[in-house]
Amino acid sequence: MKVETQCKVLEMAQLTSGGWSMTVESHGIAQQISAPDQFLHIKCGHSHLLRRPISICNWSAQRDLIRLVFEVRGEGTQWLSRRKVGDSLDVLGPLGNGFSMEAEKRYLLVGGGIGVPPMLGCAVHGSGHCTAVLGFRSAGNTMLLEEFEKACTGGVRLATDDGTLGHHGFVDALVRQELEKHPGEYDGVLACGPKPMLKSVAAVCAQLDTPCQVSMEERMGCGVGACLVCACKNTQGHYVHVCKDGPVFPAQEVDWNE
Ligand SMILES: Cc1cc2nc3c(=O)[nH]c(=O)nc-3n(C[C@H](O)[C@H](O)[C@H](O)COP(=O)(O)OP(=O)(O)OC[C@H]3O[C@@H](n4cnc5c(N)ncnc54)[C@H](O)[C@@H]3O)c2cc1C
Ligand code: FES
Repeated sequence: MKVETQCKVLEMAQLTSGGWSMTVESHGIAQQISAPDQFLHIKCGHSHLLRRPISICNWSAQRDLIRLVFEVRGEGTQWLSRRKVGDSLDVLGPLGNGFSMEAEKRYLLVGGGIGVPPMLGCAVHGSGHCTAVLGFRSAGNTMLLEEFEKACTGGVRLATDDGTLGHHGFVDALVRQELEKHPGEYDGVLACGPKPMLKSVAAVCAQLDTPCQVSMEERMGCGVGACLVCACKNTQGHYVHVCKDGPVFPAQEVDWNE
């Protein structure tokens, strides 16, 4: 069940030059979360601005807390970054269908840029057996590394576009290395990030015969399947709503040429 409520900001921390971590009191939303990478739709500003979708990075149903990690991109996320402890946010959530994970299975988690935060939720809540492959633009943009190290029993591998930390290049090369080094050991690859990254990761998984789920980052309007802003065609030629049917889909259902 989704809830529309006012959530009080409890903690605000700057992680990088444009990256923020925000913890809110969830007013029961945390108890409704059914899978990692569901998202909140947040009213960012009191004027004409639409809600903005932000993935749930981590949560505690017991303590009624939700943590969001976001990067400033435009007016909405700028407004969000200026919230102070004690401010209230108008929040709708939890929305969407997250990653499907089973407790005893082993997963390779792949995150790129603002696709990194929801993968922490997968590592903490989804399964005790994860390895993470995380990609950033540069060493200065890395975030949440200590938390991933703590939560991922299989370790963390890093890639940066400019080579300032870890592998010089994109995450798909590390995904290939990891799957080739441990053939048949991963039950699935879960990926979140920009579409070209997801497309490359999905291609590696298809080649190496490993199930892959991807979280799509489409622009959103209503967030609940009532408009057509997020509609995409799938490989069967049907239109799906990323907000309601996703954001997570089996990679083979995504039409990568759309
Ligand atoms: C399901 C979902 C979960 C998300 N989770 C996170 C998260 O955990 N952390 C985070 O930092 N961001 C996340 N995003 C992206 C975030 O919603 C956008 O960055 C935000 O809506 C931008 O709003 P704005 O008003 O700041 O910028 P705008 O002025 O609306 O846009 C600024 C720039 O960002 C681009 N943009 C806007 N929305 C999107 C989008 N959905 N996908 C790709 N490009 C976009 C625009 O084309 C433009 O170039 C998520 C998006 C989706 C769909
Ligand atoms: S955002 Fe309106 S249908 Fe998905």
